[in-house]
Amino acid sequence: MKIGLGCDHGGYNLKLEIKKYLGTKGIECVDFGTNNDTESVDYPIYGQKVAEAVVAKEVDYGIVCCGTGIGISLAANKVPGIRCAVVSDTFSAKMSKAHNNANMLSLGERVLGKGLA
Ligand code: RB5
Repeated sequence: MKIGLGCDHGGYNLKLEIKKYLGTKGIECVDFGTNNDTESVDYPIYGQKVAEAVVAKEVDYGIVCCGTGIGISLAANKVPGIRCAVVSDTFSAKMSKAHNNANMLSLGERVLGKGLA
């Protein structure tokens, strides 16, 4: 399985944690940026990049992060074929796949600790 990752500056550190975690599971990741938390960037750019990679089947699923998870999910959901769920709890995360067939997950670095994420 291959996962596309993306974030803005507000989600950069959480994205790194997710990337590290997926690495421990042997899951391949393609990182679409951004690449630091110091330069302010526009979250729609990265939400769209990951979403387009999912639709093009370059990756199987996408995980995106911003401060709240909201903005970058809205951007991803503008791409036809994307069902990106913002979640802050494990039950909703499971249900987003089981009942909503989500193909992207959005997480908020300013909302979640890395353990829960
Ligand atoms: C960036 O400061 C912040 O607005 C962004 O990461 C996100 O939370 C927007 O939804």
